[in-house]
Amino acid sequence: MTRKILLIASVLSTIVVIASCQPAASPAGGNTAAGLKTIWLDQLDVSKALSGTGPTKANKSFDGNSITLAGEKYEHGLGTHSPSQFILALDGNAKRFYAVVGVDEEVRILQQQRQQQQGFRRRGGTVEFKVVGDGKVLWHSSVMRVRSDPNIADVNIVGVKQLRLIVSEVENNYNDHADWAMAKIEYAGKKPYAVEPVVVKPYILTPKPGPKPRITGPAIFGVRPGNPFLFTVTATGSRPMSFAAKGLPDGLSIDSATGQITGSVKNKGNYTVVLIAKNDRGIAQRNFRIVVGGTIALTPPMGWNSWNCWACAVDDLKVSESAKAMVDTGLINHGWSYINIDDCWMRMEQQRGDPDPNIGPPARDPNGNLILNAKFIDMKALVDYIHSLGLKAGIYIGPGPTTCQGYVASWQHELQDAKQFAEWGFDYLKYDWCGYSSIVKEEPNLEEMKRPYILMRKALDQVPRDIVYSICQYGMGDVWKWGEEVGGNCWRTTGDITDTWPSMARGFQQAPLAPYAKPGHWNDPDMMVLGKVGWGPDLRDSGLTADEQYTHMSLWCLLCSPLLLGCPLDKLDEFTLSLLTNDEVLEVNQDALGQQASRIVQEDGREIWAKQMEDGSTAVGLFNTDDYSKQRITLNFADIGFEGKCLVRDLWRQKNLGAFTGKFTAEIPVHGVVLIKVTKF
Ligand code: GLA
Repeated sequence: MTRKILLIASVLSTIVVIASCQPAASPAGGNTAAGLKTIWLDQLDVSKALSGTGPTKANKSFDGNSITLAGEKYEHGLGTHSPSQFILALDGNAKRFYAVVGVDEEVRILQQQRQQQQGFRRRGGTVEFKVVGDGKVLWHSSVMRVRSDPNIADVNIVGVKQLRLIVSEVENNYNDHADWAMAKIEYAGKKPYAVEPVVVKPYILTPKPGPKPRITGPAIFGVRPGNPFLFTVTATGSRPMSFAAKGLPDGLSIDSATGQITGSVKNKGNYTVVLIAKNDRGIAQRNFRIVVGGTIALTPPMGWNSWNCWACAVDDLKVSESAKAMVDTGLINHGWSYINIDDCWMRMEQQRGDPDPNIGPPARDPNGNLILNAKFIDMKALVDYIHSLGLKAGIYIGPGPTTCQGYVASWQHELQDAKQFAEWGFDYLKYDWCGYSSIVKEEPNLEEMKRPYILMRKALDQVPRDIVYSICQYGMGDVWKWGEEVGGNCWRTTGDITDTWPSMARGFQQAPLAPYAKPGHWNDPDMMVLGKVGWGPDLRDSGLTADEQYTHMSLWCLLCSPLLLGCPLDKLDEFTLSLLTNDEVLEVNQDALGQQASRIVQEDGREIWAKQMEDGSTAVGLFNTDDYSKQRITLNFADIGFEGKCLVRDLWRQKNLGAFTGKFTAEIPVHGVVLIKVTKF
């Protein structure tokens, strides 16, 4: 809709609202002048509406206040939160859908409160409304924020059998309190009714690993000469299991009970080692390359990060519980290894009314060293514990005076902080731009964008430890073009992810970035939103459907993205665990060639992505990106450089599908995927 029409619509809105508020003008359930009946949507079963963060309310805003848009209160309507969907069955005889839509005014109050308490406003409260009839978008709003003028949806629905009212997030889904005010339907035949949405129930594809040993994890590992080496050989199979490694370079040894290889190697070089795992059911062997040189993170880091689940509610118990759970759930046996603490472990220079006790000032001791806030007691002990489990530890800070959440960051303390992280024993640093915006002008040039990252790179190069350097600045200045040059091992290519399809579908925008990913240097479209998420003390199930979760995992593997879980590992359900423990899927991510998938087909809700693997095969994802219908998708082998007969293996099911000539076709559910491996016959 053009801006002009919207403006007219918004002027009209006041008039229409006043008219609709008169009971006699459009009596719900009564006959209109044309013999039509009218029903308010709040008279339907609103409990059937699906909403990402809580129930949709009748005649109330999402937080239970009067529905209020741009200063106007409305007596009828639905208060919801993105992403949300309300499905209505019609008999084809309804005529008109009408509503006044916008972001409820209570969001402004919420944002003001946060500004007062924490010194910054939370972004968000940005949504789009859609009216969809039988799979076709009949109307959509502008992108709406809390101060936007309301839009009017006045939609002809003649002949429509199924009407969907959709609210989608735009930036993220913080504060997306969205109102369908005065929402009503005019109809002639059967009364419209609300329909239970089709929820894709979690279904498990990953077969359980067998009792025989099977070595998992990457087949290649990089380390710098002289730095501490920690790599845990991982394998599935029944326990007890013993481990060995033939041909380890001087300076390294393996603990046969835990599989942990430790020590350090003085000289640069490439070493091929044979890893062995043995139990009472058999023995497994696999070649493993140790590359002692200048590059680490030769495969994308796999692990956990505290942000998407706990955000600032993180504390050392939650971190150590996650580390323990990585072992207890068996995730470690599939190669998951990092336990990363995100923001909110430090103190603040200025107290900002944050409810956390003991957060400052001061934020540093008299010698300029960082001080932990009250939620963390002893960082060295926590990291030692993580290492004792055979896992690695990660930490977060930023180049500015403060982090995104207002805690102290490394501005003018870069080397001191890098040394501190090394002393504590960290193996991974996420370096987040946020507070650095106060140091540079609003539109920094490339030079200014690179500067803080180069500074910390130099600092990290001075500490005797391999620390994976994760650059986080949301993709500014096409960071993928220079992330490697400033010494990054991975770089965020996008803003923050949330657990909705539009947010996760950012993965499909990564195609042009493929040439920049390589061993040691990875594009990072952000952490995962599988399992439970919440960004705070309260957790909920990911808003992604089961099929969307398969797509998330498959796409991140094809993209060679770092795999950082954002769910509490001690609260994993069977379905989520199955998503994270499919070794054939994980092999796609960890493949030693490190080649990011390219998109080879993109048409009408169908996408095919192909990733060349080191063994000569190609991993292929056939994705249905259509919002409403399943799709038959055909891969022509010629498009991946193969001719004639090829073997196709379904990676999620770990099952050979057979030999196919010229092409392979699969039927894919809405937002779902089939992930296959194609090998020349
Ligand atoms: C930014 C980052 C997130 C997270 C938060 C912490 O928003 O993009 O991943 O680290 O900061 O405050």
